[in-house]
Amino acid sequence: MTHPESELTQLEHIPTRIFGNADAACMTVADAITHLIESRNADGKPAVLGLATGSTPVRLYRELIRRHKEDGLSFANVITFNLDEYFGLPGDHPESYRKFMQDQLFDHVDLKPENTHVPDGMVHREDVFASCQAYEEAIEAAGGIDIQILGIGRTGHIGFNEPGSAPDSLTRLVTLDSLTRRDAARDFLGEENVPRHAITMGVGTILAARQVFLLAWGEGKATIMAKTVEGPQTEAIPATFLQRHEGCSFCIDESAASQLTRIRLPWLVGRIEWTPEVTRQAVLWLAQKVDKPLLRLVDEDYTENGMADLLVEQGSAYDLNIHLFNITQHTITGWPGGKPNADDSNRPERATPYPKRSLILSPEPLDDVYCLGGTINRLKKHGNEVSIAYQTSGNLAVPDVEVRRAIELMIELGEERSGQEDLDYVKTVEAQLDAKGDFGADSTEIRQLKGLIRRSEARSSARTLGLETDALHFLDLPFYEEGRYRRFVAGERDTARMRELLETIRPHQIFATGYGNDPLSVPALSFEVLRAALAACAGSDWIKDCNIWLYKGPAQEWEAHEIDMAVPLSPSELENKIQGIYQHQTQRSQSPISGDKRVNNTWDLAREINRTTAELYDAIGLAEYEAMECLKKFTFDQ
Ligand code: GLP
Repeated sequence: MTHPESELTQLEHIPTRIFGNADAACMTVADAITHLIESRNADGKPAVLGLATGSTPVRLYRELIRRHKEDGLSFANVITFNLDEYFGLPGDHPESYRKFMQDQLFDHVDLKPENTHVPDGMVHREDVFASCQAYEEAIEAAGGIDIQILGIGRTGHIGFNEPGSAPDSLTRLVTLDSLTRRDAARDFLGEENVPRHAITMGVGTILAARQVFLLAWGEGKATIMAKTVEGPQTEAIPATFLQRHEGCSFCIDESAASQLTRIRLPWLVGRIEWTPEVTRQAVLWLAQKVDKPLLRLVDEDYTENGMADLLVEQGSAYDLNIHLFNITQHTITGWPGGKPNADDSNRPERATPYPKRSLILSPEPLDDVYCLGGTINRLKKHGNEVSIAYQTSGNLAVPDVEVRRAIELMIELGEERSGQEDLDYVKTVEAQLDAKGDFGADSTEIRQLKGLIRRSEARSSARTLGLETDALHFLDLPFYEEGRYRRFVAGERDTARMRELLETIRPHQIFATGYGNDPLSVPALSFEVLRAALAACAGSDWIKDCNIWLYKGPAQEWEAHEIDMAVPLSPSELENKIQGIYQHQTQRSQSPISGDKRVNNTWDLAREINRTTAELYDAIGLAEYEAMECLKKFTFDQ
């Protein structure tokens, strides 16, 4: 028996709707915007929209463009005000928010250019105050904002209202938080290139809008979402001030909702149905909460933590403890490809066929070794046919200094040995690099060279894990090669390339990642391409006998109750994996893009995460290992 929604949402201070995916949420918001535009049109008045940038609203904008092109929705009567702009960036800079809005929305609908407003990032320091005041006045002159669209930053910022912003703050110049700048590092090809200041509407400006929709997708937003919806109002998390707004609602996907109490700890807020999954989630949480091994939990631990009815339903603490201990114990295996000639009734992976064809999918080079270095090494040692497919080239993540070094090497070598033609080519690329400036886009030739650098690192890394380089496949999916961050669109050609690989390998097991990530991120799109390719292979025999194992992705790990396979690593296996990671030298200064931790060294974090998982297993009363890599079993009806 499930209790009413109101009971489960009792800790939430903002109406929050959870959608199966971002597209479904965007439809709802697009409906509200359409309704506003149409009713204002009928009254002969303009509709005033407050708009946001970032990955989050891109799908909403795509839907609005579709409605304009296919359903005749007109924006002729719409006035827009954007939240913010980087200070010091001209409007035609590839990373300016003005440019972003032109590319993602304005250029594709019939908005009048004079009706679109984005704060001017190039205003002189001494004129900033007046310019911000003028922005406020323009909003007022337009009649105020009818619907404000918001994303949220991981610091809890809305617009660029970083922690410390007051609820009555207005449009002004602000300093960006270091986490915000780190999150933008990929867009700017390095954190050092991210502007330090921005002009943003204030929290007060946002709160003055008549209706506010905040959107959020992916697990990267889950922690800040829970704090914003359930926590107290505080300047430390400016988005919490939205709790004051009667007309504010959040439209988020399941991943962004995953840390809300009604999803993470539903037994604390209502009477729930104790399915095997929730029972596992609850008991493993309980052991960690009271800091006891599973087999030492007692009735009081259950009753004092909202789980009294579970005891009544399923017997005593003793029975539950043993049951959950066994389930957890059976997730541990040193044989990720299955153990041949062994009883496999309680093993995560089946014993036959043996050896297996194991396919590791890595959205970019490095994800494979970072998350599964130990597992790959074991699969290979046990005689399985291991292949790694790098879905994208990862060339956008190679800093210019790396490619310049390679070019100089080639020129030197060319001058000594090779023909003039090769040398001319390399010199052309060098000239392109010189001409590119700090923020220019890479030419096709530069991207190709950067992709080759990452291939060489991937080969070197795979060798460390015991693989031959002919086991590696570089798919260079077109969505990535032809796109840039936050603007990727995957399509038929991506699916076809992925499908061809699957049909060639016909794997018995696939290790993949990207499920639950921000839908415009590289891992999420790579995962969607896999999903489409598997659907296209549905008629093939091999697919009926293929297990899919999900790894969580760099800088993160599954929670205890989500783990279906835990692969222990010995101290030397862990060190070997770290050596494998070291081969990705161009990535040493890149910080992981997901996860909440602030770290300076990606490589050390891999070690820390694997050790932390092993410590967790130890703490809940299982064997004590040095480190562990974890996987979750996946089926595509999810
Ligand atoms: C930037 C923008 C915000 C946006 C946030 C989240 O900092 N100034 O308006 O909400 O990033 O970005 P994303 O949607 O890409 O996650």
